[in-house]
Amino acid sequence: MNKTITIIKGDGIGPEIVTQAMRVLDVVAQQYGHTFTYQEVAAGGNAIDQYGVPLPEESLAKCLNCDSVLLGAVGGPKWDNVEPARRPEKALLGIRKEMGLYSNLRPAKIFPQLADASPLKPFIVAEGIDFIIVRELIGGIYFGKRRTEELDGQLVANDEMTYSEGEIRRIARVAFNTARKRSGRVISVDKANVLDTSRLWRKVMNEVAEEYPDVTLEHMLVDNCAMQIVKKPSQFDVVVTENMFGDILSDEASMITGSIGMIPSSSLGDGTRGLYEPIHGSAPDIAGQNLANPIGTILAAAMMLKYSFDMDEESAAIEAAVEATLNDGYRTGDCMSEGMIRLGCVEMGDQIIAHLKKR
Ligand code: IPM
Ligand code: MG
Repeated sequence: MNKTITIIKGDGIGPEIVTQAMRVLDVVAQQYGHTFTYQEVAAGGNAIDQYGVPLPEESLAKCLNCDSVLLGAVGGPKWDNVEPARRPEKALLGIRKEMGLYSNLRPAKIFPQLADASPLKPFIVAEGIDFIIVRELIGGIYFGKRRTEELDGQLVANDEMTYSEGEIRRIARVAFNTARKRSGRVISVDKANVLDTSRLWRKVMNEVAEEYPDVTLEHMLVDNCAMQIVKKPSQFDVVVTENMFGDILSDEASMITGSIGMIPSSSLGDGTRGLYEPIHGSAPDIAGQNLANPIGTILAAAMMLKYSFDMDEESAAIEAAVEATLNDGYRTGDCMSEGMIRLGCVEMGDQIIAHLKKR
């Protein structure tokens, strides 16, 4: 197969981790007889520096005209004082919105090899951590109107949070369909004891549940969910929630698996073209030092092969190579534990590629 992949390396550690993922993709292409054509575009802080805007039109056009997008990370302290409309994060939000990617899947799965790196007590980890957060990605407070104005001599800021039935219904279906392929249980997370958007969220979730008699639906308040994730993560299978709650809970969920550096994510809309990225940020503190963990991005590339290109076998081969590398005891600094062998970003890529080539 021939696939065109738009590459956004981004800022901070972005270029390093994406480079390793591209090396892995090249090996897969060779082994399975595919051609991956890369079109690299600027977005985020580097685009602000080069073009004065976080998401140049040409970059967006290439995201809309390709088979899928692979992204590293955007943002960093260098652009902290840029006016809000031009912040690096605007690039990511713009791409998600313009590509119509309303469904963001973030797996929280512990690699048994990393159990020691989890901050949770061993007996909690031993019960198992394997769930997936289905995050609504282009609605809610992230995309509501916002303004800051002076009222009675002081500044007053306002961010609007809006959800329509349609926006909730389509993400509900993603969650229920995902549950069908897993254990058939959905936990919907909201703040229905306070927010109108959450009350509507709950109502629509209940309605959609009727179309899926084989899937059970439970509701959980977001504050309780944050607590349950560290108390008894084994109770979760599919968690569906709105944009901001999903942002917060997915960082928490990733951390209990040992390292946020390991977790990939997919963002999809109604078609097969998606955006794939690790869930971590640009980690400017370790950028350019060959310290970053490329595994989240490499697994994001594996997700792209599976979800957008229907290449299940190729995707599984990458996952197996990552597992084998962890089994060998190789770790980057973020998930290092006693007795393991510490590697840099490039060397971690080398090891994963070596395992791929053994197949
Ligand atoms: C994420 C990130 C983004 C978000 C930021 C960079 C805008 O935290 O993908 O989780 O909040 O969605
Ligand atoms: Mg986040």
